[in-house]
This record gives sequence, structure tokens and C-alpha cells, in this order.
Amino acid sequence: MERTLILLKPDCVQRRLTGRILARFEDKGLNIVAMKMMNVTPELAKKHYAEHVEKPFYPTLEEFITGGPIVAAILEGLEVIRVVREMLGATSGLKAAAGTIRGDFSSSRQMNLVHASDGPEAAKREIELYFKSNEICAQELTLRPWLRAGDEA
Ligand code: PPS
Repeated sequence: MERTLILLKPDCVQRRLTGRILARFEDKGLNIVAMKMMNVTPELAKKHYAEHVEKPFYPTLEEFITGGPIVAAILEGLEVIRVVREMLGATSGLKAAAGTIRGDFSSSRQMNLVHASDGPEAAKREIELYFKSNEICAQELTLRPWLRAGDEA
């Protein structure tokens, strides 16, 4: 079973969209196996966005992501990394398709509400950045047989 990291960013928390957006992932049948509200420090932001630190937009991105509390969570499910990225839509809310989370709730490239890992290596790195192993609550949901067939792993 695959895992991915999501961050409900400060715009999501401030706009009181946390519950509605988490509900979309739950509705899809994904498991939340870890979750916490926290503040991102500049040090953590630099580690998280390491590949963007030298880019011109990085200072405003850091100011934004450290500017208010976020909710970090680990989602688990089949092909969850791809599935969650598709549910989010394109990076910019202006370009994201209607029906996606960003397409429905965002009109911004920076304030795009949710971050999600973009591949298996990023997911592993980001999960370890935000969670200790004893903060992850592995669980098998009792309604699993109603979410997918037995031969779908
Ligand atoms: S993505 O979705 O990760 O492939 O997007 P990418 O284009 O690589 O951008 C990575 C993150 O940087 C943010 N970003 C920006 N913020 C402010 N201004 C500008 N111009 C800008 N361009 C990119 C973008 O919101 C991505 O944040 P995350 O948290 O990864 O979604």
C-alpha cells in the first residue's frame, strides 16, 4: 500500500476549508494514517522546498508557508501519490480543471491550498520530514471490502 504526504497550507486553514478538503480524500476511500496541526519553521520550509530555494519566488513561498498553521497528514491507498495529485489538479488554481480541489477552490499558483508529494522518493523524504514513525497509525479499515475487490490488493 502506497503512502503520500499532504500539507493543508495556511490558506486552506485560514479559509476554513480543512474539513471539506479532508472529506474529499476520505470520500475517495483513502486512509488518513497520520495527521497534525503545526507551524512550518523557515528551516523546515527550506528542507521541504530544497529544490526551489534558489528560485526567485522562494522568499514569498517561504513567507506564505510559515505564515500560519498548516495541517500535515499522511494518506494511504492504492496508487495514492498519483491519485492525490490528480485530485489536486494543476499547480495553479487558474489552470486546474473544474472538479479538482484547486480547480474548485483556488485562483492562485502560490495559494493553491494543498501540497502533495510528486513521486515515491519525494513521498518517503517528505513523510520523514514531517512525521516520526511512532506518529503513524497504520490501520486496516473494516469497510475495506466495500471500497475495492479482493484482487485489487
Ligand atoms: S508542482 O506542483 O510541485 O509540480 O509545482 P512546481 O511548479 O514545481 O512548484 C513547486 C511549489 O512552488 C510553488 N510555486 C510558487 N509559489 C509562488 N510563486 C510562484 N511563481 C511559484 N511557482 C511555484 C507552488 O505552489 C508549489 O508549491 P507546492 O507546495 O509544491 O504545491
